[in-house]
Amino acid sequence: MAEFVEIFEVGPRDGLQTEARAIPVAEKVALVDCLSRAGFARIEVASFVSPKWVPQMAGSAQVLAGIRRAPRVRYTALTPNMRGFQDALAAGADEVAVFGSASEGFSRANINAGITESLHRFAPVVAAARAEGLAVRGYVSCVTDCPYDGPVAPDAVAYVAGALRDMGCGEISLGDTLGRATPERIDAMLDAVLEEVPPDRLAGHYHDTAGRALDNIEVSLARGLRIFDAAVGGLGGCPYAPGARGNVASEAVHARLEALGYATGLDAAVLAEAAEMARAMRVES
Ligand code: HMG
Ligand code: MG
Repeated sequence: MAEFVEIFEVGPRDGLQTEARAIPVAEKVALVDCLSRAGFARIEVASFVSPKWVPQMAGSAQVLAGIRRAPRVRYTALTPNMRGFQDALAAGADEVAVFGSASEGFSRANINAGITESLHRFAPVVAAARAEGLAVRGYVSCVTDCPYDGPVAPDAVAYVAGALRDMGCGEISLGDTLGRATPERIDAMLDAVLEEVPPDRLAGHYHDTAGRALDNIEVSLARGLRIFDAAVGGLGGCPYAPGARGNVASEAVHARLEALGYATGLDAAVLAEAAEMARAMRVES
């Protein structure tokens, strides 16, 4: 039987957070409902951040309230602080994520705190989520390059990944935020991170600005990672990473994984339908 690799769908959050057009909640709900039918185990649908920082995510609670929940799907949300966590809990998120950075510049630009302060802010969020029985993911952004500080040392990534693991994050997602990493640099970064965190607790989160994300996934597969974040239709970017393009497209990751002999549990026809829907949401902007 083919080995399973999870594609963690982040399109409704990472994909849509940068769209200039204010996308109505009903459109987001329709996209999530289609993705639920595609067979994902987890879909990141919401972000409980300041609406002044990311206006597109302001309707997150309404999205969680409006979706048709499939019983085997976990609907996840970003929660940068206790306020965000309380709102996510009230809205019924099944899993939450804190999001840090391996570089100071991005950390300050994205969440208005340096790395050390951000880790202090995350600790009570992770503890509260675990007390509620929720799984917690920890993101590390800028795992090879930072838009403000330039190249990032692998040891800096390993340090933040280890700190998030120690705090209680069950899974660490490694973000190539700018989408300019090469397989060689991803491999070197993983060398350092794998000293701290085993591969079954890591995810690859690769944006695709330079068109190398699928190669970066392959090199990560060779290092034992089996979870990859992707956005249907290749939507997205980060409002605090100028010039960064979308996440690698879920349908492209699915096709590459199948070609490599892995199973994803996804229905390619429904995935194509969702990709079409996602692209239309962007075209209208
Ligand atoms: P701050 O200004 O330092 O926070 O922002 P504050 O505590 O001083 O609050 C400022 C205002 O925000 C206040 O409102 C708070 O009430 C409000 P005011 O009094 O001015 O009217 N506020 C909130 N409102 C709603 N929900 C909340 C919340 N917290 C405070 N949870 C903060 C700090 C973290 C809030 C801010 O910097 C922020 O929201 N940043 C989010 C940035 C973001 O969402 N970036 C995109 C996601 S990360 C990403 O895309 C990377 C990733 O994909 C991985 C990768 O690709 O690398 C994950
Ligand atoms: Mg991202």
